[in-house]
Amino acid sequence: MEPLNKLVLCLCVALAVSWRGAIVDAVIVDGLQVGFYSRTCPEAENVVRDVVNSEVAANRSIAPGLIRLFFHDCFITGCDASILLDESPSGDVPEKESSANGFTLIGLNTIDAAKSKLESLCPRRVSCADILAFAARDAAVAAGLPNYDVVAGRRDGERSNMDDLPGNFPVPGHHVPRLTELFFQRGLTQEDLVVLSGAHSIGGAHCFMFSNRIYGFSDAADVDPALDPAYAARLRQLCPPRKPDDDPERAPKINFDAVSGDRLDNSYYAELLARRGLLTSDDALVQDPQTRAMVEAFARDDALWHRKFAEAMQKVGKLDVLLGEGKGQVRKQCRLINRPPPQQQPQWPAHPGFPWRPPQFPRRPRRPIRRHPVFDLINGFFRGFH
Ligand code: HEM
Repeated sequence: MEPLNKLVLCLCVALAVSWRGAIVDAVIVDGLQVGFYSRTCPEAENVVRDVVNSEVAANRSIAPGLIRLFFHDCFITGCDASILLDESPSGDVPEKESSANGFTLIGLNTIDAAKSKLESLCPRRVSCADILAFAARDAAVAAGLPNYDVVAGRRDGERSNMDDLPGNFPVPGHHVPRLTELFFQRGLTQEDLVVLSGAHSIGGAHCFMFSNRIYGFSDAADVDPALDPAYAARLRQLCPPRKPDDDPERAPKINFDAVSGDRLDNSYYAELLARRGLLTSDDALVQDPQTRAMVEAFARDDALWHRKFAEAMQKVGKLDVLLGEGKGQVRKQCRLINRPPPQQQPQWPAHPGFPWRPPQFPRRPRRPIRRHPVFDLINGFFRGFH
């Protein structure tokens, strides 16, 4: 090849490479992309991270709250931010009101804060479902997990119904076969179940979530014999027996991981092996021969669990996402769906011979919100949804 031609070829290759580097910064994964907002709202991920970091610095309990919020959103009807809705246009009672959520949800204000910053920076660009996925990652990183990429491009759903939870959602009383079945229905494996349950390395549970294990467990034993006796005694000190008029919102909340409750690490698994799993569903992972070996492996290897946890969170983030302009919407406020602007009613001239008016379609009445009374809440958790 002539030297001049060689030079031209090299220049073309160099230009093509630098051009690619300049604009092709997104990796497409199953329709979602890493760097989805790099052109439409380049600061999106930074804004969410800054909000999460400052809120977690002020209150450590925000980090577990955000991770849980993300899981609860994606597990029911996919990652569509349906958990954030205060009301559903159909009149259904929203997921938020379910006994698996209710007052135990933490982090809703953090999502609102991130959304309002993003709306002033790039209005109607960044979906609430993506904010939730970024925020869960940032919360996990703030709690000690190495950073991981989060794909984006999810759109927000337009419905939310608490009736979607019963029979589809794990509850503290479930054992491995039922948990595995529920995860499997959502495209998640038994390994995902064990890996993701490690989120219980941070945060805690209210006493009524596990009090069946420390009071009146069975006819033969007042305390669940699977629990380490010293741990059970400590739990009984921290959680006095319930009284009928106790307000569940004021129930004490106990850390899942008594060793390093603020750090997202593998000590959760070591605690399970030491018979200090707080919920029946935690303890079940170590009792069941199908999952015990995984618990042992994660207890030995923090780096392995960190890697698996990041991968499983990425997988959760792809559950039933709404993709593309035709699906869902980008909400203006995460708690409400965007309503179409009110239709202008044509002004019909008053005319004695022309009494016709455009038909009025009755609006479907909104079902009244059933706030769960104390005992519905508690009993729902003990029995499981079924
Ligand atoms: C496997 C079945 C699971 C069950 C039965 C379960 C149940 C629970 C319960 C009852 C609580 C306590 C809520 C409270 O009292 O405020 C809780 C807290 C929590 N859950 Fe789960 N969970 C499960 C899986 C998961 C998964 C997969 C994740 C995340 C990937 C997760 C993340 C969390 C976090 C971070 C907390 C602490 C929240 C806080 O302190 O505010 N859980 N979970």
